[in-house]
Amino acid sequence: MKQPQHIIQFLLNDNLIEIDFSKSVEYKPTTTVLNYLRSLPGHKGVKEGCAEGDCGACTVVLAEYNQNGSFTYKAVTSCLLFLPMIHGKQLITVEGLAEKNGDQWELHPVQKEIIQSFGSQCGYCTPGIVMSLFALYKNHDNPSKTIINDALTGNLCRCTGYRPIIEAAEKACANIKSHQLTVKEKKAENIFKALGSLEKSIAIESQGQKYFRPATLHNALSLIKQYPKAHIVTGGSDIAIKQTKKQEFLEEIIDISGLRELKGHSEDQANIYLGAGLSMEEVKTIVDNKIPELHHILSYFGSLQIRNIATIGGNLGTASPISDTLPVLIARKAKVILKSGDKERTQSIDSFIKGYRKTNINPDELIYRIVIPKTMKGVIFKSYKLSKRKELDISSVSGAFRLQLDNEKKITDIALVFGGMAEMPKKAVQTEMFLMKKKFERETIETAMKILYDEFMPITDARASDVGRRLMARNLLMKFYNDV
Ligand SMILES: Cc1cc2nc3c(=O)[nH]c(=O)nc-3n(C[C@H](O)[C@H](O)[C@H](O)COP(=O)(O)OP(=O)(O)OC[C@H]3O[C@@H](n4cnc5c(N)ncnc54)[C@H](O)[C@@H]3O)c2cc1C
Ligand code: FES
Ligand code: FES
Repeated sequence: MKQPQHIIQFLLNDNLIEIDFSKSVEYKPTTTVLNYLRSLPGHKGVKEGCAEGDCGACTVVLAEYNQNGSFTYKAVTSCLLFLPMIHGKQLITVEGLAEKNGDQWELHPVQKEIIQSFGSQCGYCTPGIVMSLFALYKNHDNPSKTIINDALTGNLCRCTGYRPIIEAAEKACANIKSHQLTVKEKKAENIFKALGSLEKSIAIESQGQKYFRPATLHNALSLIKQYPKAHIVTGGSDIAIKQTKKQEFLEEIIDISGLRELKGHSEDQANIYLGAGLSMEEVKTIVDNKIPELHHILSYFGSLQIRNIATIGGNLGTASPISDTLPVLIARKAKVILKSGDKERTQSIDSFIKGYRKTNINPDELIYRIVIPKTMKGVIFKSYKLSKRKELDISSVSGAFRLQLDNEKKITDIALVFGGMAEMPKKAVQTEMFLMKKKFERETIETAMKILYDEFMPITDARASDVGRRLMARNLLMKFYNDV
């Protein structure tokens, strides 16, 4: 039977849950998955540490059942997810990992190893850490140290006891024997099969909020036309914070996280085409050795939990001066395709960003695709991110550079794009002009560094002082020279 649009369905561990927002007084459409879980008896493993994606205490795993009969597992921060975003998925919490074997409960291998390696240190962080390890276990057999560290970057532990946690990860994920569906997975599969397709448009009007989750792009575009002031949400890693930290009341929301049309990617000889709804982790994998400087900067983007929800379209949509992808995309001469109704238009990323958190998007348009030119012969690209902490931190300054030299090592093309130096990611135009046609040698670069130091008037904030930022930008140019 087709469920009404105001009802969402998902699995909470092994149980099918339906929330009817037209009847619920407890939950509104923007109730976060974290607050929903905390409201339930027996689901207090998940904790709120920061409510902004930074600590990992709220980590849960979202599983998606695929048509080929497999499951995809992703660790995510539940403090940044609105309830309708998990429609059609399985929400796995620390309470759902153990399996019942006759009368006995058997802990999951990651739980056993956390205990045996003395990795369970405090009750606040451990459930989130266990969920990150569970996702790691599901995705990697014998993971390297780098993969383990990456899986744990989003889980902060202030007692500094990472060593036993890493040890537990190594042991639990060593030689995972069976890749067949577990008893729990078979149970979940049966429920998903019985439910049939859960792809439906959701429209909830409750407690002063309108929340739409269209199932098709066509539907989304007509909603955007109808509700031009609605917040568009894809990953929600930016928008959710408006509610959780700034206490804003989000009146109208169009959640496009379920649109398949925004999740595709393709390439031809000249370009890579990325759907705006691809998560940063998916983009990182797709561009791996094709756009190395984008892959590099994405390795330092948030944490795995954040990269699993944050999208490339959302990163463009924020137009943040410290967005990590924008300098790289500008240096690459990437383009953005915008869609409205039946129309499509293409803009260079450079002209798409028009000011502090301002873009050249019309109220009836969506970011549809990003077009990135592939590496051109003889053109060098590099990207750099400088932040107070190496991982899970926002850039103080970032730089993305493009360079082409002729046979005499003279510069024939250069782009020096910086994040964190102005109200939006910007090119150092004067320095570029100085460098054009000059020989790419240390003396020239040292003179260019002086020009660059005076080219921007950055602000002082919690991340860096104005002078610090100018020094960082200047020194990045020398680092680029040395690297090339
Ligand atoms: C803990 C944490 C760490 C972070 N670390 C980094 C980092 O290292 N580097 C960095 O650059 N950013 C970082 N961010 C910021 C954020 O994750 C990114 O900007 C992310 O890419 C936003 O994507 P989203 O899908 O979550 O956006 P959302 O929150 O869904 O949307 C962001 C904005 O884009 C608009 N939008 C989204 N999709 C579309 C679309 N298809 N068409 C039109 N408009 C759209 C929305 O209306 C909104 O204005 C971090 C955030 C958190 C919470
Ligand atoms: S509560 Fe800290 S990441 Fe969610
Ligand atoms: S495990 Fe909680 S502070 Fe270390």
